[in-house]
Amino acid sequence: MTATHASLTETIAALDQRYVLPVYRRQPILFVRGEGARLYDEFGNAYLDFLAGIAVCNVGHSHPKLAQRIAEQAAQLMHVSNFFLTEPQARLALKLCERSGMEKAFFTNSGAEACEMAIKVARKYANAVKRTPDYEILALEGSFHGRTMGALSATMQAKYQTPFQPLLPGFRALPRNDLDALHAAFSERTAAILLEPIQGEGGVYPIADEYLRAARALCDRYDALLIVDEVQAGFGRTGRWYAYQHAGVTPDIVATAKGLGGGFPIGACLLRGVAAEVLQPGEHGTTYGGNPLACSAALAVIEIIEEEGLLENAQRVGDYLQARLRALQDEGAPIHEVRGRGLMVGVELSQPIARTVVQKALERRLILNAVGETILRIVPPLVITPADVDEAVGILRQAFAEM
Ligand SMILES: Cc1ncc(COP(=O)(O)O)c(C=O)c1O
Repeated sequence: MTATHASLTETIAALDQRYVLPVYRRQPILFVRGEGARLYDEFGNAYLDFLAGIAVCNVGHSHPKLAQRIAEQAAQLMHVSNFFLTEPQARLALKLCERSGMEKAFFTNSGAEACEMAIKVARKYANAVKRTPDYEILALEGSFHGRTMGALSATMQAKYQTPFQPLLPGFRALPRNDLDALHAAFSERTAAILLEPIQGEGGVYPIADEYLRAARALCDRYDALLIVDEVQAGFGRTGRWYAYQHAGVTPDIVATAKGLGGGFPIGACLLRGVAAEVLQPGEHGTTYGGNPLACSAALAVIEIIEEEGLLENAQRVGDYLQARLRALQDEGAPIHEVRGRGLMVGVELSQPIARTVVQKALERRLILNAVGETILRIVPPLVITPADVDEAVGILRQAFAEM
């Protein structure tokens, strides 16, 4: 018998199992390299990535320009604290405000922190302008805003909230896309409404443009803040910088993260009007937020998106993806509905087989994601081509055929 050596994958899997807190259901695959829409394991197998690190790697994996900017900035200056000026932060704030229609930026390290900040602004605003202390922040059923206690309190899904009771008081859930319920919920007590323009973790449910416009009008009427969580749908994914731009509304506060850094951790809370005047020096902060390294990464991401026309690509290839998926449905695949915008697409299956489909696709080296038992979430890098879509749809067809 010859002695066999453990592969790197096996070695790392053993370490992971022994030492990493098991809060994630991990696939036993070790990726060692990425390029564009492909990830490579240690054996050189290429996987087509239609998950993009959960809607993060919008410019593709290890884009040379992004990698170079990060390396240059790291060699020059990584971190100095928010007690001092830094060039990348101010320049990034300008670019984000120009592209979002907002007026000020506060930088965070994650999406949850951007939502936390928005909630704090809404609370301080309400404490100042609402005559009643029992004001409410409205949020939608099926929402997801993050795992920190404030963001979790606005995440209206029992599976995330129940184990961590008690939550922050003052949040109220509304059924999504129900205009009557929206109108009925607003009153002088309403401090803010927080919503995702397309619910991601909740199952890729688009919120109607009409609903967003009604929320804007009600916020104006009742002195409430419209907070849009663009952490997943934002930064080009739907074919515009921000998904609310399709509806022609301007929020008071925007939470953004994920695609913003293209893989480097950075988020931001963008504010305008009265919302931008709420917090005063010393009332909020974070050590790493907006450091030169993270902001240089985001600046490079913006340049890449613009130079490579990735907003247009997300729209065009996203439309093609939806058309191909509907054709698959017409062929008899167990698809109930295809929905979404640009390259944020949900496939609702007619049977509870989403996790099995994801597994079968993975065996054929296509990375997909299931949100729940019946919904596939497709959020590839914005650089994918129609040929990538054809390949992915071909693999999906085979996966369905086997079931
Ligand atoms: C819409 C939305 N908001 C907030 C978050 C939380 O972001 P993070 O995981 O960076 O804290 C997520 C993450 O999936 C999200 O999809």
